[in-house]
Amino acid sequence: MSLTPLLSNPPEFLLFGGKGGVGKTTMAAASALAIAERHPDHQTLVFTTDPAPSLADSFGQALGNEPVALTGVANLFAMEIDAKQEIAKFRAQYGEDILNILQEGTYLEDSETEELFALDIPGLDEVMGLKKIMDFMEGKAGGGNAEGGKTVSFDHYILDTAPTGHTLRLLALPELLDTWIQFLSRLRWKYHAMVNQFSRGKERRVEHADEFLLDMKKTVKRVRELLRDPKRTSFTIVTIAEAMGVAETRDLVQELTELQVPHEHLIVNNVVPVDVSSFLQARRAVQDRYLKELRDAFPKLNQTVVELQADEVRGIEQLRAFGKKLL
Ligand SMILES: Nc1ncnc2c1ncn2[C@@H]1O[C@H](COP(=O)(O)OP(=O)(O)O)[C@@H](O)[C@H]1O
Ligand SMILES: [Mg+2]
Repeated sequence: MSLTPLLSNPPEFLLFGGKGGVGKTTMAAASALAIAERHPDHQTLVFTTDPAPSLADSFGQALGNEPVALTGVANLFAMEIDAKQEIAKFRAQYGEDILNILQEGTYLEDSETEELFALDIPGLDEVMGLKKIMDFMEGKAGGGNAEGGKTVSFDHYILDTAPTGHTLRLLALPELLDTWIQFLSRLRWKYHAMVNQFSRGKERRVEHADEFLLDMKKTVKRVRELLRDPKRTSFTIVTIAEAMGVAETRDLVQELTELQVPHEHLIVNNVVPVDVSSFLQARRAVQDRYLKELRDAFPKLNQTVVELQADEVRGIEQLRAFGKKLL
């Protein structure tokens, strides 16, 4: 078993998820590189929403909040999404309008509203990351600014997700965001009923906030459709052959099934090679138990076993060699 089917014929959206330290970033980076090299005429973007990203470290190249072309490979780009920066942009664009709706619609104390609108909404950083990707997918992301700049779009988006807890939040996000939107909508209608008593300026602010609600609604709908579309999306689980790895995989498979996110591939990383000293053979015997458990527990998943490497996996050269192990 290998990742060949996935990397030879990659969908639009590939996600790599699992608990911290199992090799998500390495797998995402090596897979993106393998895809770019197998499909040199395609545009491939690998990105991360991890608040503590290590994609730049993995490629050995500086990355930022916008796609950067990787040197040494054609048409491969990478980006570390900075949720704080995205939230700041969002605040600048809509912050005051939403704050106004909250204040005038609810008659809350200013301090209460501020708290509500501290934008400390669970999952907001992830939705900002996904919104950014949706903008790329829909050709709305410009070369730096909205007007004039040429639109950038990619054939393949490879997401190196934040550790499991965050990932699950991200996947549940459309639901979370829907609740938030409904709440704002209710306030907005309440406000609308009174709007005649207010000035034109306030009405314009309501219109502006409406734009925001509409925009977010569209994003939620598209994210949901995207995440559930087996023709466009595939979530690859990365784990290790240990008890915690099996338990974590069980939870993740259940969650993905409930959320109807297509998941067919499981990578079992850091497996000790068979041919080593007796100490390592003993380690491998332990892992064999869990390899079997993973095979038995998830017969429907196409499982790829990746051996522990003697060296770290960093830089284009090593990622390229490493990617061959996925094939
Ligand atoms: N099969 C492997 N053999 C040796 N080192 C590995 C292997 N897979 C990953 N690594 C190394 O382990 C560390 C953690 O991997 P990483 O991909 O950053 O994990 P995650 O993104 O899941 O936290 C990195 O230094 C990486 O180079
Ligand atoms: Mg990582």
